[in-house]
Amino acid sequence: MDAPWWQRAVFYQIYPRSFASGRRRATGDLAGIEQHLDHLGWLGVDAVWLSPFYPSPMADFGYDVSDHRDVDPLFGDLDSFDRLLAACHGQNLKLLVDLVPNHTSDQHPWFRAARSSRDDPQRDWYVWRDGTPDTPPNNWVAAFTGGSAWTWDEATGQWYLHLFLPEQPDLNWANPEVVEAVHGVMRFWLDRGVDGFRIDVAHGIGKDPALPDDPAESAGMPHSALNDTTETHELLRGMRKLVDAYPGDRLILGEVFLLSTERVATYYGDGDELHLSFNFPPLFAPWDAGRWRHQIDDASRHIVDRYNAWPTWVLSNHDNVRHRTRYGGSEARARAAAFLLLGLAGSPVLYAGEELGLEDAAIPDDRRVDPGGRDGCRAPIPWGGAPDHGWGVDEAWLPWPPDADSRNVAALRDDPDSILHLYRRLLAARRSTTALQTGAFARLEPVERAAPGVVAWRRWDDAGAVVVAVNMGEDALVGVEGTVLVASDGVGEGEPFGGVLGGDRAVLIVPR
Ligand code: NOJ
Repeated sequence: MDAPWWQRAVFYQIYPRSFASGRRRATGDLAGIEQHLDHLGWLGVDAVWLSPFYPSPMADFGYDVSDHRDVDPLFGDLDSFDRLLAACHGQNLKLLVDLVPNHTSDQHPWFRAARSSRDDPQRDWYVWRDGTPDTPPNNWVAAFTGGSAWTWDEATGQWYLHLFLPEQPDLNWANPEVVEAVHGVMRFWLDRGVDGFRIDVAHGIGKDPALPDDPAESAGMPHSALNDTTETHELLRGMRKLVDAYPGDRLILGEVFLLSTERVATYYGDGDELHLSFNFPPLFAPWDAGRWRHQIDDASRHIVDRYNAWPTWVLSNHDNVRHRTRYGGSEARARAAAFLLLGLAGSPVLYAGEELGLEDAAIPDDRRVDPGGRDGCRAPIPWGGAPDHGWGVDEAWLPWPPDADSRNVAALRDDPDSILHLYRRLLAARRSTTALQTGAFARLEPVERAAPGVVAWRRWDDAGAVVVAVNMGEDALVGVEGTVLVASDGVGEGEPFGGVLGGDRAVLIVPR
């Protein structure tokens, strides 16, 4: 029972523009989230990660922060934030806010000052290099634009670095004043009572001072997916110390966007860097049993065995095509995938709307707004079947997701066979089965040939054991006997497992 809360917790990501409007507007806001917290309680998740709501010119929809200590009027104000935090805590939900420490908006007062003159005291808060306007300092590629990660500042005659848009200049973490400034931001939110941070681009903040070219074999890859330097680890240790000094097990969950689980694992440090790290290679794995076995074994080997750390699992978020769409669109697969997310060893992070089985919205050209082409997964959550889907406006900032007339919270809540109820049953099973939260883990080898598409594993502790089997292939024999606790198609729950698992189906079994 001494595992920290974040090892037992299921996290729920809310993208505030798209969740709910409390003010009958086309974009969501903090009041809308507060009004819909009962959905999270009913569903049975434990913690919320809230994507940025800070003042922002919205070049990257809030990941370009122009004031770290306030709320953009689009979303509300600091009072509405405090109300939301209190409401979360009133419902026993933890709340993480998004910390964006790698870069700011170019409209942030820090960058305005830095850009104003080479002699400005804040000049060195960002990464500037001499040169000539035709040759950037190195070959680093920016995310989203695919162009250089350097922009020439005409007025002051130097280049500045931006791993993302030119409107998102990178902070210079080699400058202790920057470290102090971001620590101040962290204290501001911790003092308000947040339970921790999801840290944006956590692996990106330290830069190799020599700024070496990226290798030729990664040509075209954004440097943000390659930056992996020793400098960052010391900086993360500083953040960890700060957070650990607060009472109540505050958490740092880092976005380490490196495409190798082995490298991701290093950001847990010696128990003194990130408490939790996203691990994206599984998110990019297709619906293929061999590939998933490999991802699962990688997480065990590198994160658990090598670093004695706690994995996380994520299938969808605001940056990627939703997993139901990626896996081919069938609801059966989306249902079976929930058993991966909620059954593997580690902390799951669910993206709002996946419990509805949402697919990406089709975005007509004239409604595309994101420079990174990520609009489809950011479609607004449909709360009801009426034309406004509970938003009070007929058209939200992005088109509704497919079939919103029937695939919405109200309709799925009324249907006990829906995917929404499946998520709820799985979450309840996880809550009442400690083996699923913190139990030991062993992957079961498939009954080869008979079941090449089956990914199966066992979880156990002193209170008991469970087996999870997910079938990514054809109907197959699974060599387990016992009672079905939850089935992805809802068939046979509470009954003995028949031995054959259909393709694109999953089961949670209490073995005999
Ligand atoms: C990762 C965030 O999840 C993404 O939405 C953002 O565009 C980049 N970091 C840059 O902040």
